[in-house]
Amino acid sequence: MTQRKSFGSDNHAGVHPAVLRAIVDANPGDAVAYGADAWTERATAGLRDVFGADDAFLVLNGSGANILGLSLLLRRHEAVICAESAHINTDECGAPEQLIGTKLLLVPTADGKITPELIAEKLSGRGDDHRSQPGVVALTQSTELGTCYALAELRKIADFCHDSDLRLYLDGARLANAAASLDCTLAELAECADVLSFGATKNGAMGAEALVVMRPGLAADAPDLRKQQTQLTSKMRFVAAQFGALLQDDLWRANAAHANAMARRLAEGAAAVAGLDIVHPVQANAVFARLQPRHIAALQRDWTFHVWDEQENVVRWMTAFDTTESDVMSFLTAIRDTAPA
Ligand SMILES: Cc1ncc(COP(=O)(O)O)c(C=O)c1O
Repeated sequence: MTQRKSFGSDNHAGVHPAVLRAIVDANPGDAVAYGADAWTERATAGLRDVFGADDAFLVLNGSGANILGLSLLLRRHEAVICAESAHINTDECGAPEQLIGTKLLLVPTADGKITPELIAEKLSGRGDDHRSQPGVVALTQSTELGTCYALAELRKIADFCHDSDLRLYLDGARLANAAASLDCTLAELAECADVLSFGATKNGAMGAEALVVMRPGLAADAPDLRKQQTQLTSKMRFVAAQFGALLQDDLWRANAAHANAMARRLAEGAAAVAGLDIVHPVQANAVFARLQPRHIAALQRDWTFHVWDEQENVVRWMTAFDTTESDVMSFLTAIRDTAPA
């Protein structure tokens, strides 16, 4: 029997064949280590070009990109305002606190998106040296709850940050999904940010992320900090080759658009099942649904996905670049078949 497609995470997916080919093509012969190779030069030039960026640095994973990005933006005593649901808060084992020594000032949100009003609530202790001093706002695009900030929302936040002496960091582990969803360029999404990450791993890479520095004057410490933070890999050409493949003919966009379309299809089908509610707008490649606990248990016997909120009986279903329509149809059949009468 063929293995059922996982709806647990876009990280469960394999590697896009074009990415694998690019790794294989980069293999023959030697190349200078630590990024002084032609693949890295091409990939970083490509990233600078598509983002209109000042500079770009390849790293190994999304948590590493977040740490490097925040460390470029924070002064030693400063704190980070972010959504309670932000990956830097929920899923990085306290890395920002431990590795940069910062404090996260958490903003509760309904849909993973923070607003100028919510940021403003965290600024009341400014100038009081007994209180944490916010220096950075960290957004995630697309968010951990599968929603996207519209460009106008990003601009509003960026203007607010600018006027409030706050720098803006964007966790773009799924930036490709947001660009596909909003039908905009990566440069348009990045415009608001001082620094952002651009995720490839969830978009068909084997393991490759980039830190993109938008505002001139911020990149000077990045090479040393990347090394200190153990994100400078010696055989960098293979990380760079992955970006080369994804940037070629905008493969990143095709992969993301497909994953998003599969999530929409899944949400549309699931919404028609009695007793099941879709709890957040499906704007990227994640579907959040509320089901009865026995429905969740029955479905989990054969299918892989995460229970996101046990109290609220909310599950997360994620699609990837390689989720097929037939995977979605089979999963929908199982959702219908296991629904309590
Ligand atoms: C929004 C977001 N940011 C960052 C990451 C970090 O990824 P990694 O596991 O590569 O460190 C993830 C991974 O799931 C994520 O969902």
